[in-house]
Order: sequence, then C-alpha cells, then structure tokens
Amino acid sequence: MHGGGRRGRRDVEAAPPEPEGIVWRDVKGRFETLDGEAFLQYHHLIGGGGGAVMDMVHTYVPRSKRGQGLAALLCDAAFAHARSRGMRVVPTCSYISDTYLPRNPALKELVYKDQDPHPKPSSM
Ligand code: COA
Repeated sequence: MHGGGRRGRRDVEAAPPEPEGIVWRDVKGRFETLDGEAFLQYHHLIGGGGGAVMDMVHTYVPRSKRGQGLAALLCDAAFAHARSRGMRVVPTCSYISDTYLPRNPALKELVYKDQDPHPKPSSM
C-alpha cells in the first residue's frame, strides 16, 4: 500500500538550489564538493545595462572521480544559482561550452550573448 497523496510542502521554497553534496562558497568564487577537491570556479562581471553575469572560468574534477557526471552536477548548481538570481553566464570553461551546454540546450538561454556589450569586471 502506498502512502497516497501529497507529502506536504516540506521546505521546497527554502531549499538551496545546490544539488546534494555540492556547496556554494561565495568567498572562494566556487561551487565545490564537500571536500573541496572538485570545483567550478567563477568570477562576477557586470553586463550591458548593469546586469550581473557569472563568468564560469574553470571546472576541475580529480582524475579518480572523472566520468561519473560530477562536473555536470557542479554546473547544475552554478546554472541554477545564476537562474535563480537573474544572472547570465559566460561559459569560458571548455567543458561547459563544449560538453555541458550542448547536453543541456534549455540552459543556453542563460548565456550572455556576443552582441551584448562586453561584460566588465565586477567587485561583487
Ligand atoms: N572540454 C570539454 N569536454 C570535456 C573536457 C574538456 N576539457 N574534458 C572532458 N570532457 C567531456 C568528456 O569527453 C566526457 O564525455 P563523455 O561523457 O562522452 O565521456 C564528459 O566531459 C564527462 O562529463 P562529466 O562526467 O560530467 O565530467 P567529469 O566529472 O569527468 O569532469 C572535467 C570533466 C573537464 C572537469 C575533468 O575532466 C577535469 O577536471 N579535467 C581537467 C581540467 C579541465 O580540462 N577542465 C575543463 C576546462 S576549464
């Protein structure tokens, strides 16, 4: 017999956008695993019109943990973060531009467009 029905709202509204096991470390400009060994590094930029932009510069996963989708999880967290804060993304990291985005085409709408004024460094 199944429980049948809704399980209540739980804390969906308060839940952070990060997938389980991934943490946001704003001070380091990283999304990373709990042990900090795998990470996605970003910088904040200011886009045309003053919009916030995340330049995702580097993704790293230790050799022993590669090929299991860990980099994709880090990207899921970073893109969810950008979307929830209305930020656009510059996919400087080749893993993001060449592998992650082609596999997640719905996220391309978050990409900062070439024809937009070039984003400037931010002090955020
Ligand atoms: N550019 C684009 N795609 C890459 C890549 C790169 N430099 N390195 C690996 N990939 C692809 C692989 O071809 C693989 O494809 P497959 O699924 O068809 O086998 C896919 O990424 C694996 O995806 P996922 O499991 O989510 O990634 P991962 O956890 O193995 O980590 C990297 C991928 C790139 C983060 C990891 O290989 C790494 O740290 N490499 C060294 C640093 C680096 O080159 N970073 C990217 C440039 S900033």
